[in-house]
Amino acid sequence: MTVSPPAEVLDPATDVPLSVALRTGTRDDHAAAERSAFVEHLVGGTLPLAGYVDLAAQQHAVYTALEAAGDRLVAAGTDGGLVFSELVRVPAIEADLAHLLGDDWRAQVRELPATTAYVARLAEVGDDLPRYAAHAYTRYLGDLSGGQVLKRMIERHHGLSGAGVSFYDFPQIHRLKPFKDVYRERLDALALTPAQRDEVVEEARVAFRLNRALFADLAEAHVR
Ligand code: HEM
Repeated sequence: MTVSPPAEVLDPATDVPLSVALRTGTRDDHAAAERSAFVEHLVGGTLPLAGYVDLAAQQHAVYTALEAAGDRLVAAGTDGGLVFSELVRVPAIEADLAHLLGDDWRAQVRELPATTAYVARLAEVGDDLPRYAAHAYTRYLGDLSGGQVLKRMIERHHGLSGAGVSFYDFPQIHRLKPFKDVYRERLDALALTPAQRDEVVEEARVAFRLNRALFADLAEAHVR
């Protein structure tokens, strides 16, 4: 009689690595995010500056929650090598908002409902490394990829350079491509069963949906 082995972690020889599963599993969500009205107006130069400033304000709340979760994982010694100081965005967003709105920026911004929902999800799942990984992947690899396109477009359309768009600058990362490769290697090194890998992909799809909902709220406020 053969006894089935216990659920094993991913076998690199036979199983799809997490980074590949994430890319393929979120391809449609990515295309939908790129096509959202808010992003199209941001890229096309038809979004008023106030819309970009509001995006920064919402991102402040989101990254505060994401990076607090990362800090808790580091403190617990369970961050799986996925929390990088080079990626931390909150100080850059605060500098951008101070540049764009002045030192009293906190009194001028408010949280949109989709942001509140996104922050709540991060608080709910962020202490669990696989699900933290899903959210960190969705934001940071996006910022290191399409974010660089967005930066050039925002600078061009709103006459900004550096100050106000430092969110998209990673001064401690000299070459983005090798850094992204290391990030993907860290994802692939997480000890996950195939079922857990699929759960990470599902949570990344949740993260994309939360981003789309945020873009929808921002579009309602700023796209005419
Ligand atoms: C105009 C908007 C966007 C453009 C032009 C864009 C473009 C790109 C490009 C060219 C890549 C591939 C980079 C590479 O292979 O190294 C990429 C990857 C990625 N983008 Fe976007 N993107 C946009 C919006 C977004 C948004 C809104 C999100 C999520 C909130 C996002 C999340 C990601 C992620 C997670 C990856 C990594 C995919 C992977 O290799 O696993 N992107 N993006």
